Amino acid sequence: MNALTPQPSHLAMVPFVSVANMLKIVNRIGPAQMIAGIAAYLEDDFRRWEQFDKTPRIPAHSRDGVIELMPTSDGEIYGFKYVNGHPANMARGYQTVTAFGVLSRVENGYPVLLTEMTVLTALRTAATSALAAKHLAPQGATTMAMIGNGAQCEFQALAFQKVLGIDTVRLYDLDPAATAKAVRNLAGSGLTVVACASAEEAITGAQIITTCTADKQNATVLTDNMVGAGVHINGIGGDCPGKTELHRDILLRSDIFVEYAPQTRIEGEIQALDPDHPVTELWKVITGQAEGRRDARQITLFDSVGFAIEDFSALRYLRNQLSDPGEYIELDLLADPDDPRDLFGMVQRARP
Ligand SMILES: NC(=O)c1ccc[n+]([C@@H]2O[C@H](COP(=O)([O-])OP(=O)(O)OC[C@H]3O[C@@H](n4cnc5c(N)ncnc54)[C@H](O)[C@@H]3O)[C@@H](O)[C@H]2O)c1
Repeated sequence: MNALTPQPSHLAMVPFVSVANMLKIVNRIGPAQMIAGIAAYLEDDFRRWEQFDKTPRIPAHSRDGVIELMPTSDGEIYGFKYVNGHPANMARGYQTVTAFGVLSRVENGYPVLLTEMTVLTALRTAATSALAAKHLAPQGATTMAMIGNGAQCEFQALAFQKVLGIDTVRLYDLDPAATAKAVRNLAGSGLTVVACASAEEAITGAQIITTCTADKQNATVLTDNMVGAGVHINGIGGDCPGKTELHRDILLRSDIFVEYAPQTRIEGEIQALDPDHPVTELWKVITGQAEGRRDARQITLFDSVGFAIEDFSALRYLRNQLSDPGEYIELDLLADPDDPRDLFGMVQRARP
């Protein structure tokens, strides 16, 4: 670089949260506290749902998985997430889900945040699940069964402990090593953690059932006879065409709540139902425009697939936590010549 090489202007610099810095932030705030913080932002954004641009996410499907873009905007801020879902990845030593995301100013299109979102997605998914359960789960629920003990599992458990006040989780995974990992990680959380040998054993005595398995097929993690009256099902693993977790008969006995119906009809458990089967969008429950749980015997199902506004809320939350310069770096991301039209001159002036 010679002395005349232009230095980036302050407008070129975008705060970037690396994985290492995300881990610092999560540990400074505490995972459960951060989930509760994101849940509060989610609740605010769900209350102003109608202000947002909404579109089903844009998928690129392949034999092994999917890569998706998830955009939204509230008119002032624009956000998107890049995320993949590859159930076969784990066996190859990769994560099933990885992500990064961006927030930008709508008025000039300049990004104001670039961040890892693999960890942030787990936190926001847990926050969304707990927020839904706050409105749908039976009063005084103490016990949650968790079928699928992979990457999302502990985040979900902590969210339900913090936001719902559950005290017990009953874990089951096809792979006992996944359950053993979750038992280890949740030691010291204050939760009573019970490792179970089957899904049937895990759901015994549970008022809430979370399904968070990954399989690129229509799996049957829960059959109809396993689901008794009054439970709340938090189904997060069925989130792609041809990738579901629940037997159709369970859906027919449940009151079904979704994030954004046009996307969930493509990706959620309800892809197994008629396209006009009644479902309620969660934001309507949160704003009091629709009923959540009505009675103690009702089965409620939160058919979660993950929606762009949830990532927007998580990004907004994160941006407001970035006070310590040790927790992000300024990335020279935007070419911003002094004369906005002189992009080529900027290239020339940088010649070695
Ligand atoms: N709804 C959302 O917003 C959202 C967000 C993130 C992830 N997800 C989905 O949640 C699921 C879990 O994600 P993850 O990151 O924890 O995946 P992961 O691959 O880390 O874990 C999945 C676990 O499920 C287990 N499993 C698979 N089939 C099973 C079965 N029939 N019974 C019991 N266990 C079974 C696997 O052994 C594995 O341990 C994925 O399908 C992912 O796409 C949804």
